[in-house]
Amino acid sequence: MNYFGISTTSAMAPRNSIAEFQELVRSSNRMMALCGAGLSAASGLPTFRGAGGLWRNHEPTDLATPEAFAADPSLVWLFYAWRRHMALKAKPNRGHFALAELAKRKENFICLTQNVDGLSPRAGHPESKLYLLHGSILDNKCFNQCGYIDRNNLSDPICPALAPAAEDYPPDQTLPLLDPNIPAPQIQVEDLPHCPRCKTGLLRPGVVWFNEPLDENMIMQVENWIWQGPVDLMIVVGTAAAVYPAAAYTRKAQRRGAIVAVINPDPDSASGLGPKDFFFQGDAAEILPLLFEPVIGKMDESGKICVEP
Ligand code: OAD
Repeated sequence: MNYFGISTTSAMAPRNSIAEFQELVRSSNRMMALCGAGLSAASGLPTFRGAGGLWRNHEPTDLATPEAFAADPSLVWLFYAWRRHMALKAKPNRGHFALAELAKRKENFICLTQNVDGLSPRAGHPESKLYLLHGSILDNKCFNQCGYIDRNNLSDPICPALAPAAEDYPPDQTLPLLDPNIPAPQIQVEDLPHCPRCKTGLLRPGVVWFNEPLDENMIMQVENWIWQGPVDLMIVVGTAAAVYPAAAYTRKAQRRGAIVAVINPDPDSASGLGPKDFFFQGDAAEILPLLFEPVIGKMDESGKICVEP
């Protein structure tokens, strides 16, 4: 097993022929994709592991827990308000558009994404074929679990107290919030967003945190789809595949017969792929439109289809 959870039977290198992959995607019936932060890298959003680094001396993953929110809701809200601002400023890239177009043109293609940035929905990815495994940073829900959820809230900042996280600074200057030498703004809990339904709980970002389960209903739908028939192709885009249960879908698709194709600049992400699989090393925004061209047509720089297949 490699760190994808893919079982390997051969040490031979995966394929990298674009023509062979294009033929496979054209002829495939049931296809799945698993996407991660690398899909949004070309939109200017930092990934979790690696380049992104610390946020004010905090590991981002340490802030993404219900325990962190309970201990310091102001700090966790500042972190998410900053990420919301970045996500709202970013634009979907050609990788998001290519996957959305594939979903429109291939009936049996479902896309699972770990990204909470809202860029796949904004690229027009059909909602019924897109599973937001880790939720959406644009949703807010009650921390007291009264059931209230506010979907696709585009206000930025989300409340006046969080304005320091939604400021734009020139590229050669650091946003004061991001400088750990400058004390973080002290926001009173009463100035954070509160649940309008139960009026007792705080609102929290509508994302899945560490130590929290994924949405049960969503998991059931994905599992049902997987067990409805063999899977021809599993496309793994821009993920370190380090977070479970998301990462396990590659192995599940493989058990249903899928050929796996990995798109990632990191050569380590190909470890464990067999000779029938594919590895395309590089930026998803550049590679995906080319890989899907026989099905979606030619895509221009803005992500629009300019020549039909
Ligand atoms: P990671 O930051 O762990 O991994 C990003 C992956 O994207 C790495 O394998 C990079 O090599 C690759 N990458 C970087 N630039 C790329 C590009 N231009 N094109 C394609 N790939 C590129 O992010 P995820 O795997 O998405 O969970 O992380 C999974 C989960 O861990 C996140 O959803 C989040 C995080 O903690 C929660 O918040 C629950």
